[in-house]
Amino acid sequence: MSTTHEQVLALDAADPLAGFRERFVIGTGPGDPVAYLDGNSLGRLPKATAERLRHVVEQQWGSRLIRGWTETWVPLPEQVGDLVGQTVLGAAPGQVVVADSTTVNIAKVLHAAAGLRSDRQVLVAARADFPTDRYLVEAVARQRGMSVRWVEASAGTAADAPADPPVDTALAAVLDRDVAAVLLSHVDYRTARIADMPGLTGRIQDVGALAVWDLSHSAGSVPVALDAHGVDLAVGCTYKYLNGGPGAPAFLYVADRHHAELEQPLPGWFGAADVFSMAADYVPAPGIRRMLSGTPSVLGLFAVEEGVRLVAEAGMDAIRRKGIALTRLLIGLVDEQLAAHGVEVASPRDPDQRGAHVVLRHHQARRLNDELTESGVIGDFRNPDLWRLGLSPLTTSYAEVWHAVQAARDWFERDHEHAREVAS
Ligand SMILES: Cc1ncc(COP(=O)(O)O)c(C=O)c1O
Repeated sequence: MSTTHEQVLALDAADPLAGFRERFVIGTGPGDPVAYLDGNSLGRLPKATAERLRHVVEQQWGSRLIRGWTETWVPLPEQVGDLVGQTVLGAAPGQVVVADSTTVNIAKVLHAAAGLRSDRQVLVAARADFPTDRYLVEAVARQRGMSVRWVEASAGTAADAPADPPVDTALAAVLDRDVAAVLLSHVDYRTARIADMPGLTGRIQDVGALAVWDLSHSAGSVPVALDAHGVDLAVGCTYKYLNGGPGAPAFLYVADRHHAELEQPLPGWFGAADVFSMAADYVPAPGIRRMLSGTPSVLGLFAVEEGVRLVAEAGMDAIRRKGIALTRLLIGLVDEQLAAHGVEVASPRDPDQRGAHVVLRHHQARRLNDELTESGVIGDFRNPDLWRLGLSPLTTSYAEVWHAVQAARDWFERDHEHAREVAS
């Protein structure tokens, strides 16, 4: 039996997280989205963030000026780092900083990992990973006279070449005692497939290499347990499910067992033992603070703090439950209403293997996404033929999912009608 609109509205009525939606700016005027399914690219604006930033701008920047650094701002990267660590990463205090972009942080952790295994010559990454990850693995290897081996694994989509092995088999094929570090994504940016973090971390460490994880698409959508799983280093974005805002600073985790030996490639004054001593020689701060380089983005840090507070209040278990329910509803509606138009679900159907976005495959995905975006149904196009829909548990309603699928179904019907008219 097909899902009805009433059933979908009943899901919203019974949603224990429904109240969080009201704590975000959700415009309903002309120009505002009618279905925003892109919170995995840029999360919505929490009302508390607008308020907090106004306060910080007027009271701290406006009034305290340079005194703000010593009074409040210098420890923020670690304070917000601890909050992110505790709320979404399963990391005890003192192992996370928030600063710089994910891209910059990937470069830092790759260099740091290579430095911790300086007798080894190889970096490993996945061929299907996000571009910045692949570019940096190649660049860091080049800069350090190392080489790269690629994990040629299946991304887990329905239409994968059957020849592509699963990631653990593909990883086993490139792992040996020459490997210094392996960079992998926890939730695949296209398919949403969740990698087996504890299993893969164990295999990497079995050959003495370090496990480096990109958590950009899992932080705030899927529970992560970095300490419990013995992960070595990790990074991730805060502007997706953590709702930190455009260009919000990223997080960087290094397990405390590595801190004493940890060298970072961009040693700057903010990572020095005494920031304001202006010492002749660089002496790194003890602990994770040494991974900082220059002046951090204070407004960005406050915005991340507000976003993560909302995640902490909701709790990662409730967020994960709703992420599964939203993606399950979407997949069900696609099967019922879009499969007949040739749309395929290219994310894993098993909810345990799927993050909080769903990717759909259709040869017209680019045009579909462009035209629906104009009508306020906002998702993402991803090469070559993927329509990616992000379901952000704190802000996405079940009704938005319904609306997006109806809009896509209407688009296909109009498109077929048009094709028939042209042909006749
Ligand atoms: C998986 C992944 N890694 C890295 C990045 C790069 O992040 P940034 O552009 O903030 O450096 C992104 C951005 O979307 C991403 O999705």
